[in-house]
Amino acid sequence: MPIISFATSKGGAGKTTSALALASELARGGDKITLIDADPNQPLVRWAKLPGKPDNIEVVADESEETILDSIENASRSSKVVIVDLEGTASSRLSFAIGASDLVVIPCQGSMLDAPETAKAIKLVKQTERAVQRPIEYAVLFTKIPAAIATRNYKDINNQFNDAGISVLPVQMIEREAFRTVFSTGGTIHTIPSTAVSGLSAAQENAFALADSVIKRLSAKRKAA
Ligand SMILES: Nc1ncnc2c1ncn2[C@@H]1O[C@H](COP(=O)(O)OP(=O)(O)OP(=O)(O)O)[C@@H](O)[C@H]1O
Ligand SMILES: [Mg+2]
Repeated sequence: MPIISFATSKGGAGKTTSALALASELARGGDKITLIDADPNQPLVRWAKLPGKPDNIEVVADESEETILDSIENASRSSKVVIVDLEGTASSRLSFAIGASDLVVIPCQGSMLDAPETAKAIKLVKQTERAVQRPIEYAVLFTKIPAAIATRNYKDINNQFNDAGISVLPVQMIEREAFRTVFSTGGTIHTIPSTAVSGLSAAQENAFALADSVIKRLSAKRKAA
C-alpha cells in the first residue's frame, strides 16, 4: 500500500494542512486511509478528537524515531494509503520515514526563503535513496499560493526549480480559509457545511487535483518499476 510522507525541515510550510487535505480526498471513496502524526505537537491527533472525522480516516500518533518504522509498517497492513505527517525539523525520524516512503511530498511556499530548506529536503531524499539502495520518488508541492494570481515570487521560484530539473507537482495548494477551518471545527473540507466558510468548493477542487496528481505520480512510478 502506498506510503506518502509530507516532509521538509521548514516549519509551517503546509505539511499538516496538505496531508489532511489529501487524506480527506482519498477517503471519499470509502477506503481506509491512515494518517501517521509524527509531530510532537500532534496537530492531527488533536484534529481527530474534534467531531466529524470520517470513520475510514484513522489517525495514529507516532512517538519517536524508535517507533516510526513500526507505525508505518502496522498502518500499511490495514490501510489503502498511509500518509505520514512529519515535524518541521531535521531528525532521524524524518530520514526513516523518507526511507520507507513511496512518495515524499515536499511542501514549499512560493518564496525564495523556502528554497534552501526545500533543497535540503531533496538532498535528504537523495541520500536516503543511496542508503536504502532503491529509488525514492519525491515531488515539491507549492503551498499557500494566493488565489488571485500566481505571484512573481512563485513564478521565479517555479522557473528555477524547473531549470534545475526538480520534480514539482503540477498542482499548487491555494491559500484557502477552508483548509485552516477544519482544524478548529473538526471534520474535513467535504463534511463541513458550505455556510461555515467561503470558497469551500474551490478548496475541494484543489484537494481533488492534489489527490489526482499524487495518484498519477504513484502509478507512473509503478509502471517505471
Ligand atoms: N493551503 C492553505 N491555506 C490556508 N492556510 C494554510 C494552507 N496551508 C497551510 N496553511 C496555514 O499555514 C500554517 C502552517 O501550516 P501547517 O501547520 O500545515 O504547516 P506545517 O509544515 O505542518 O508546519 P510544522 O512545520 O509546524 O509542522 C497554519 O496556520 C495553516 O493553517
Ligand atoms: Mg505540521
